[in-house]
Amino acid sequence: MNALLDAREASGRKAYGIAVAGLGYVGLSIAVLLSQHNHVEAVDVVADKVEIVNSGASPIRDKEIEEYLSSRALDLHATTDGAQAYAQADFVVVAAPTNYDPRRNFFDTSYVEQVVERVLSVNPRATIVIKSTVPVGYTEHLCSRYPEGRFVFSPEFLREGHALYDNLHPSRIIVGIPSYARDANGAPVGATVPAGLPEDARRFARLLAQASLDPSVEELVIGSSEAEAIKLFANTYLALRVAYFNELDTYASMKGLETSSIIRGVGLDPRIGPHYNNPSFGYGGYCLPKDTKQLLANYSNVPQNLIQAIVDANRTRKDFIADEIIERVMDLVYSGVSCPIVGIYRLTMKAGSDNFRSSSIQGIMKRVKAKGIPIVVYEPTLDDQRFFGSEVLHDLDVFKDSCDLIVANRWDPDLSDVGHKVFTRDLFGRD
Ligand SMILES: NC(=O)c1ccc[n+]([C@@H]2O[C@H](COP(=O)([O-])OP(=O)(O)OC[C@H]3O[C@@H](n4cnc5c(N)ncnc54)[C@H](O)[C@@H]3O)[C@@H](O)[C@H]2O)c1
Repeated sequence: MNALLDAREASGRKAYGIAVAGLGYVGLSIAVLLSQHNHVEAVDVVADKVEIVNSGASPIRDKEIEEYLSSRALDLHATTDGAQAYAQADFVVVAAPTNYDPRRNFFDTSYVEQVVERVLSVNPRATIVIKSTVPVGYTEHLCSRYPEGRFVFSPEFLREGHALYDNLHPSRIIVGIPSYARDANGAPVGATVPAGLPEDARRFARLLAQASLDPSVEELVIGSSEAEAIKLFANTYLALRVAYFNELDTYASMKGLETSSIIRGVGLDPRIGPHYNNPSFGYGGYCLPKDTKQLLANYSNVPQNLIQAIVDANRTRKDFIADEIIERVMDLVYSGVSCPIVGIYRLTMKAGSDNFRSSSIQGIMKRVKAKGIPIVVYEPTLDDQRFFGSEVLHDLDVFKDSCDLIVANRWDPDLSDVGHKVFTRDLFGRD
């Protein structure tokens, strides 16, 4: 049992000391959520983010985070001093980036480990909750590498732009406990599970549920490897669904069929449903491309066809979209436009997004540019003058006038007056 936390609960004091490492989409939404009822120290290595949060503003665009930070009573303080924040914490939530490393074909978990080592150096009794997305088996690996640590894994399912909303209305809360710690030779180390860890896992699940607006949400406390697998399989299913409707659209486009009619008819089957079916240039964003590749890497030596196909389908879709654009450029040339200019309308994945990490349109841009076709970009969240060698136009009217063909992953009413120039596969006007 974690005697300290049990004594605290017995005395009726339910507010915990929580430190959150990483003030991105995941860390900031969790910090805001939990600081409604607990003291939260939010840590980031970027001083600007820390200052913005302490001033009551949000460093990311998110309606609920902005509202809660500016007008709710939160017990939240941001800092760059990790050691001090971790030293006082009952729980440390790790929400550092885990980017995909294409050389190793695996997530780069070094930022998570930096935080873990700092926590263990000042406060080994804290329960460390990994919220970053990690490979299957990673939390058990942490237990072997740092046998003095207390680790659980809690997958995060938020959507960027709705980060706090999704934590206020969670679809499920999952906390995973490692089954045992092993040394480098695979032998069990010490007791099977650190004392009190299952209780801490349940406590943390309760904290998330009670801070939400749906406190009766289902809570699963399971094995950490299963919890890690849930995150990767859930995102790979979403990627599968995107890839499926995109390939349906590729087929319909090549056969001269009406994609929207087919999708409507397919979706009327309640087992399929009318949601998450809008064609696009491919799945993208920070999570789906890297999480599908990580799951595929976890399948090494396990028979599969589908996971590889999901990863490959996204590349094939981008090739198809780029070919469609190149064909339209050639049509313009044949009709007398001497050197048609292609305009990229927004680098973001979704309407309302404030970042364009791994967005699919960048893959399209690269393919079209490789054919020597001149490209200009309109992206209001970007201050730079150039993006990967292409000029960035900051005035929308100048952009619309300059382009002979406008390529948009998502339609926007701002494009209504130049609809005849626009190439998009957004059929339903939603993400
Ligand atoms: N963005 C999403 O939609 C989403 C959803 C679910 C899960 N995830 C996962 O959660 C993790 C974080 O994602 P994100 O989108 O919030 O990332 P992010 O890049 O938006 O934010 C990460 C933050 O961590 C900070 N950081 C880096 N090293 C640090 C350290 N040593 N100490 C303290 N802070 C540090 C960075 O400065 C940055 O502000 C990733 O593993 C991601 O895969 C993301």
